[in-house]
Amino acid sequence: MTGKSESMKRLEERIIKCRKCPLGELRTNAVPGSGSYESKVMFVGEGPGYWEDQEGLPFVGRAGKVLDELLESIGLTRDKVYITNIVKCRPPNNRDPTEEEVKACSPYLDMQIDLIRPKIIVPLGRHSMAYILRKFGFDPEPISKIHGKTFEARTLFGKIVIMPVYHPAVALYRPQLKEELQQDFKKLKDFYRN
Ligand code: SF4
Ligand code: URA
Repeated sequence: MTGKSESMKRLEERIIKCRKCPLGELRTNAVPGSGSYESKVMFVGEGPGYWEDQEGLPFVGRAGKVLDELLESIGLTRDKVYITNIVKCRPPNNRDPTEEEVKACSPYLDMQIDLIRPKIIVPLGRHSMAYILRKFGFDPEPISKIHGKTFEARTLFGKIVIMPVYHPAVALYRPQLKEELQQDFKKLKDFYRN
C-alpha cells in the first residue's frame, strides 16, 4: 500500500468511529467516501441520506443513480473518481447540516482533499459549493448563476479547478436542471481530458 492509501484508510477508520458531533449518535453508518485515491477529480455532496446511512457508501440512493448516469455520459465510473460529502453522518430527516455540524466534520473533508490532491473539485449542490468556494477564498454566489463555471485556486500542491454543479437530486424533479447538469458534465469532461 502507498503512504497515501494507508493515510486515507486510517482517516476513513477515524470517521467511522467519530462521535465529534450529535449526528454521530443518530447514524446507522458513517459515510467516509468511496472511489479512487488517485483520482484527479473529487465530487463533494452535502451529506448521507437514508440509503447512504444504511450502506455506509455515498450516493447509492436515487440521486446516486443520476450521478452514475452523469459519470457514464462522460466515460467515467465511480471507481475512477472519489466521491464524498461535507458531513459524513446523516442529518435526521435529511435536513441541512447545522453550522456546528459542518464545523465539526469539515476537517475530515479538508484532510481528504490534502491527501488525494485532486486537480478538479466538483461541489454538488449549493451547500457544498458554499463550503468549497469559501475554503479556497471565493465568495459563494447563487448556484443558478455559477453552476458550470470554473474557479482556479492555488494550493500548496498546485492549482485546483473548482466547478460547482447542481445537486443530482434536483434532476429528479426538474428536467430543465437535469439538462444543465448534463451540459456541465460535458465541460467537466474537457477539463478532465486536459
Ligand atoms: Fe463525526 Fe462528522 Fe459524523 Fe459528526 S458528522 S460524528 S463530525 S463523522
Ligand atoms: N445526497 C448527498 O448530498 N450525498 C449523498 O451521499 C447522497 C445524497
